[in-house]
Amino acid sequence: MGAMNGFMIEVDGTDVAVPDGSSLLTAVRAAGVELPSLCSDDRLSPAGSCRTCLVRAGGRIVAACVTPASPGMRVDTGSDDVVRLRRDAVEVIVSALPPRALADGGPGELAHVCRSLGIGPEAAQGAGGRGVDDSHPYVHLDRDLCIACGRCVRMCSEVQGTFALTLVGRGGDTVVAPGTGGPWIESDCVACGGCVDTCPTGAISQPGPARGLTSAFHPAEGQTRTTCGYCGVGCALDVVTRDGEVTAVLPARDGSVNRGHACVKGRFSHGFRTSPERLTRPLLRRDGVLEPAGWDEALAHVARGLRAAVDAGGPDAVAAISSARATNEENYLVQKFMRVVIGTNNVDNCSRLCHSPSAAGLTASFGLSGGTDTFDDVERADCLLVVGANPVEAHPVVGARLLRQVLRGARLVVADPRAVGLALHADVHLRPRPGTNVALFHGLAHVLLTEGLTDEEFLRERATGLPELTELLADYPPDRVADLTGVPAADLVAAARLYGGAGRPAIVYGLGVTEHLHGTDGVRSLANLAILRGAVGTDRGYGVNPLRGQNNVQG
Ligand code: SF4
Ligand code: SF4
Ligand code: FES
Repeated sequence: MGAMNGFMIEVDGTDVAVPDGSSLLTAVRAAGVELPSLCSDDRLSPAGSCRTCLVRAGGRIVAACVTPASPGMRVDTGSDDVVRLRRDAVEVIVSALPPRALADGGPGELAHVCRSLGIGPEAAQGAGGRGVDDSHPYVHLDRDLCIACGRCVRMCSEVQGTFALTLVGRGGDTVVAPGTGGPWIESDCVACGGCVDTCPTGAISQPGPARGLTSAFHPAEGQTRTTCGYCGVGCALDVVTRDGEVTAVLPARDGSVNRGHACVKGRFSHGFRTSPERLTRPLLRRDGVLEPAGWDEALAHVARGLRAAVDAGGPDAVAAISSARATNEENYLVQKFMRVVIGTNNVDNCSRLCHSPSAAGLTASFGLSGGTDTFDDVERADCLLVVGANPVEAHPVVGARLLRQVLRGARLVVADPRAVGLALHADVHLRPRPGTNVALFHGLAHVLLTEGLTDEEFLRERATGLPELTELLADYPPDRVADLTGVPAADLVAAARLYGGAGRPAIVYGLGVTEHLHGTDGVRSLANLAILRGAVGTDRGYGVNPLRGQNNVQG
């Protein structure tokens, strides 16, 4: 690790390297020492409220999770007095819980901590009686198990951006509750499962066999890493199984897009797997009625039909369309079958509708058919231009990351005729009439050019066609664009100034840009904004990123 981004620290006599900005808890873990940390979660800001992570550093007893590590610091985790202090802190917390909190030796974090400290179920002496909220199908609250660590509240606000939860009551009676005051099902909860995944005690849990399982604490055996099959975000999920049945679907902490988060679809909506309506064997229509058939019979039937079509009309009488939910290999086999066996090029894919304008437009603009950056880069953007997309609902994990960045202070321009979720937080919400995207983007580009909000060096060294574009954009002054699009000229100018004046502006767009007759022109004219602004490429800004409809649209 270079001196620029990290330093050395001593933990129990061992030197460890940690990145700049690390807490003592990070340093202690880097040294391979396990500490209880009941109010801490890597995905959240530290709270420092539970006192279970106490260590000695610089001669003082401190909470490791909220104490910054500094070069050359010496940390002691193993002296009798600090070990006893940590154990006492856990024991005090456990003593308020009812005996059942530890009775079944469950898989959760608190049970794990207690086992490691030799704290048995007899330590749990609380009376209980605070009741449950089981009004929600996926998220249940057992108030008696709540230790008021606040992790769920922070998860809901900091990671999910929903702010559905709060802590109510005083002292030992403090407990989590929906902020709306009524039952969970009537709260603002969107069932992302974040609170379920961070709760260390199982107070908030998924009912059924997944109860108490979290991404950090679940059985190691019977786990399969997969990619969510719903939207185009591509969240990494771990499917936990027992005896061949799915027990839980958990967000992967190391998922490159989701970073330990998920949404209601990927997390909870896998009941289709055992739905009686699921197609599990071939059906053949006989006398107008679909009836179960064997595979040999069904394949022979299809082969006869294809052969008859080719005999009657030649190979081009047959066409195939495959799915962006299928794997690359499956899509490859479909085209291979059509080209080699049938003898036709009549092969298409459902992403023709949603993605081909991106493929064509981004290739024309940047030479590559994909987004210019990873989703991690959104964490560095200081202005987001979100166009024709409703990520809070359609791509919820990216929507949460965008919202998080806005809550951290990034400016937000939303361009969408609809009042999409993010528009609530927008500095400027542009609502163009449907079908006027290209004029809108040209109008924004016009303002960038006329107000000097362009990157001259980038344009000189990396771009071509500026004179032609300048000539075209002369026809799109704000007043004319206002007439064409219905967007007030002042809003257009304000949006362009936000995007053009930002240090690291980002464009994220969805099917509201691509699923048009002029979708490719929409993508190209949107990409022009990033090119004019020089906001493309490593360390230059977040660039341009399409949100895809399905998980393998890009292939
Ligand atoms: S419900 Fe769980 S995560 Fe939330 S405050 Fe209580 S113990 Fe902590
Ligand atoms: S499930 Fe998600 S949205 Fe609902 S309360 Fe928990 S963190 Fe908030
Ligand atoms: S984990 Fe450090 S005080 Fe709670």
